Amino acid sequence: MKKFVYADNAATTPLSETAFEAMKPWLTEYYGNPSSLYRIGRAAKEALNEARATVGKCLNAAMPVNEANDYAPGEIIFTAGGSQADNLAIRGFMHGPGAKGRKHIVTSKIEHHAVLYTCEALEKEGFRVTYLDVDKQGRVDLEQLKRELSEDTALVTIMAANNEIGTIQPIREIAELAHAAGAKFHTDAVQAVGHMHIDVQEMGIDMLSLSAHKFRGPRGVGVLYVKKGVALEPLVYGGGQERGLVSGTENTAGCIGLAAAMKEAVEGLDEKMGYVKKLTDRLVEGVMKIPYTHYTGDPVNRLPGTASFVFEAIEGEGLILRLDLAGVCGSTGSACSTGSLDPSHVLMAIGLPHEIAHGSLRLTLGEQNTEEDVDYIIETVTQVVGTLRAMSPVWEDGRPNLTAASNLHG
Ligand SMILES: Cc1ncc(COP(=O)(O)O)c(C=O)c1O
Repeated sequence: MKKFVYADNAATTPLSETAFEAMKPWLTEYYGNPSSLYRIGRAAKEALNEARATVGKCLNAAMPVNEANDYAPGEIIFTAGGSQADNLAIRGFMHGPGAKGRKHIVTSKIEHHAVLYTCEALEKEGFRVTYLDVDKQGRVDLEQLKRELSEDTALVTIMAANNEIGTIQPIREIAELAHAAGAKFHTDAVQAVGHMHIDVQEMGIDMLSLSAHKFRGPRGVGVLYVKKGVALEPLVYGGGQERGLVSGTENTAGCIGLAAAMKEAVEGLDEKMGYVKKLTDRLVEGVMKIPYTHYTGDPVNRLPGTASFVFEAIEGEGLILRLDLAGVCGSTGSACSTGSLDPSHVLMAIGLPHEIAHGSLRLTLGEQNTEEDVDYIIETVTQVVGTLRAMSPVWEDGRPNLTAASNLHG
């Protein structure tokens, strides 16, 4: 049988058995609308609130509100995924009373488009946005952050960990600087939750976005954690669900699956991530033996399962398609749009030359991967890179011809 290795866990993850089992009754027997007053509706509402409390506990979101150790549930807002949570946090805060008329947002150049495009849309409405630089490893420049903060800054939004290169940001320091300037701090923790420890109180986080499908929950459901007292303008108007911020009948099974997957991910975090990190180290060691290969991102402050590379004289899309033929799923930052290959904004921000950034490969491992998978990936990537280079017009005599490459990419 042909081998199949899924190594794109930053794109999405397979649903965990625990999450699937937790969801089933809410898809079949207990299909009541959580706003309905009869038994199956009330049961759904109760289960949703339990899911909220579970998520709150996993994030250490609030102090217990009673002796039964129940957590204040109001701070967990269910959304239709990470993008919606980011939009709600940024748009909702800047349009809400908490911004107090201030018009400035600080973010970074390597955010996910859910953040970048929301900021760009707000710029068109008259808000001002500063996009911070990052260093070669993808870490934001804290000195630049200090310089940019002003009395007009309402919000600092910086991702906890990057989706392409896995770099983890100094969240606590960033939150402190934001607060010292009187601004609130939001973090897109979509790639971080379930992969590293997050404690919203200890880290000084005012708002945090997460998405279930990145930690083996279902796709299409996420959360915005909102610290008590941070006021937001609604994202979706209607029946007033989710404290009126995101109206619409709740995705009961999805929210319950999210909570179950999150609990499972957070409880076994150190053990699972220790295992994943070992696999990733093995993968990096093997792939780096391919000549003219560069490792991208921070070698220390990075997500345990993320291995990211660029290969000289390689086009990322061709590489992904060939790997797929051999049964390996990975991804590239290059996207073919309007006939030209656009290198990823993240790889450009860390200072990679255009012609090299085209040959990016992201392999992201999960707890379901094995050493055998890793060895198969190494063998396959080595083979495919060799084959593609042999056919490449920018590869000559066993090395890249960079002049030809820059002519090709303009
Ligand atoms: C860092 C980051 N933010 C936001 C998102 C968007 O999440 P979702 O696909 O759940 O909307 C992603 C998804 O890849 C991501 O990696």
